[in-house]
Amino acid sequence: MSDSIPVKTTSTDSYLISVGENLLKEASNFLADNFSTSKLFVIIDEQVYRHHSSYIESEFEKKFSRIIKYVVPSGESNKGMEQFSSIVDFVLKSGVERSTPLLAVGGGVVGDLSGFVAASVLRGIPLIHIPTTLLAMVDSSIGGKTGVNHSTGKNLIGAFYQPKAVFADVTFLKSLPREEWVNGLSEILKYGMIEAPDIFAQLKELTRNSNFAKPKEWIPLIKQSAGIKVDIVTRDVRESGIREFLNFGHTYAHVIEQKGSYSKYSHGEAVFAGMIGAINASNKTGASIDYSLISDFKSLYDINLDILGNNTKELTELMLRDKKVKNQTIRLVLLEEIGKPVVKSFDETNLIEESWKHLLTEFS
Ligand SMILES: NC(=O)c1ccc[n+]([C@@H]2O[C@H](COP(=O)([O-])OP(=O)(O)OC[C@H]3O[C@@H](n4cnc5c(N)ncnc54)[C@H](O)[C@@H]3O)[C@@H](O)[C@H]2O)c1
Repeated sequence: MSDSIPVKTTSTDSYLISVGENLLKEASNFLADNFSTSKLFVIIDEQVYRHHSSYIESEFEKKFSRIIKYVVPSGESNKGMEQFSSIVDFVLKSGVERSTPLLAVGGGVVGDLSGFVAASVLRGIPLIHIPTTLLAMVDSSIGGKTGVNHSTGKNLIGAFYQPKAVFADVTFLKSLPREEWVNGLSEILKYGMIEAPDIFAQLKELTRNSNFAKPKEWIPLIKQSAGIKVDIVTRDVRESGIREFLNFGHTYAHVIEQKGSYSKYSHGEAVFAGMIGAINASNKTGASIDYSLISDFKSLYDINLDILGNNTKELTELMLRDKKVKNQTIRLVLLEEIGKPVVKSFDETNLIEESWKHLLTEFS
């Protein structure tokens, strides 16, 4: 059985995000009830296919005449135009109709990539997300952003395209490597910071002894986190206002990821460190946020930022290259207090340089 979150995308359109265990039967029934059952495209992450292919095939074979799979090699380097056009080729050559559904089964890489394929083929075929990482369940499968990376930057090509349903089935999390749990944790901590401080106590309980072995126990927190993202993105569908709050810690994180050549630090590690910078800047602008809310989780991570050096001016200047910069002014999501985010623009960079200094000391 699942718990569902309704997501309103326009005044007339909406879909459900279901969160629970063993949801594929429900997913298969939903698809069969709503779309053509002659064919089903399944675009699936390599690791997910390795661990869960029989679970997926046994459920969908009951309802669909043909399951047509495309296995995507793991990793961010596969989220580019080449992989995109290879999947588009595959889908078109396999014969696709407007009503043929496409399942995106994987983490954010497969979700973003195949979401963009679904948006593009025949100007849009039905997309269903089956997120299989913690991050994808609480973040990337929600909000309708799809796309691929370009050599000049991440996520620069894409489209807003809403799925017909999302099934966050924690059964998949049983095979999720520890570092990927931790990667997803940062976004959940971010929700604690910008909206729901009760999340910190829940996370302490769930990560006690670094135990990620019981995905079922995470269902309420996944549902709460997904609900927070839903609430923010439905109030700002095309990212022109409060959706910016989701970037708490991310402007620092993008610089950290870039300095680590997008391989030394995971996005989650960079966001975790970035939130310490953002708390410091918040406190310097009048808040009094307790660092321990975040730093209590530091032992789950293994982050050393020595390779960033100590040129805080350069790091601050790199923030100006963030794609969300407007008029060459650094805009940061800060907190007035826990649960009360605010966007501030900085012409003077001293305060930000100071926050980098604090951040680098924390992770040296
Ligand atoms: N669209 C959005 O709004 C949005 C939001 C945040 C992030 N993103 C994107 O999401 C991507 C990151 O997503 P991610 O962290 O899920 O990474 P990912 O998709 O690369 O998955 C991480 C790793 O986990 C493996 N994996 C996935 N599910 C597994 C499972 N159940 N068992 C075992 N292994 C499994 C994958 O093979 C991969 O090695 C980035 O490209 C980022 O840009 C998009």
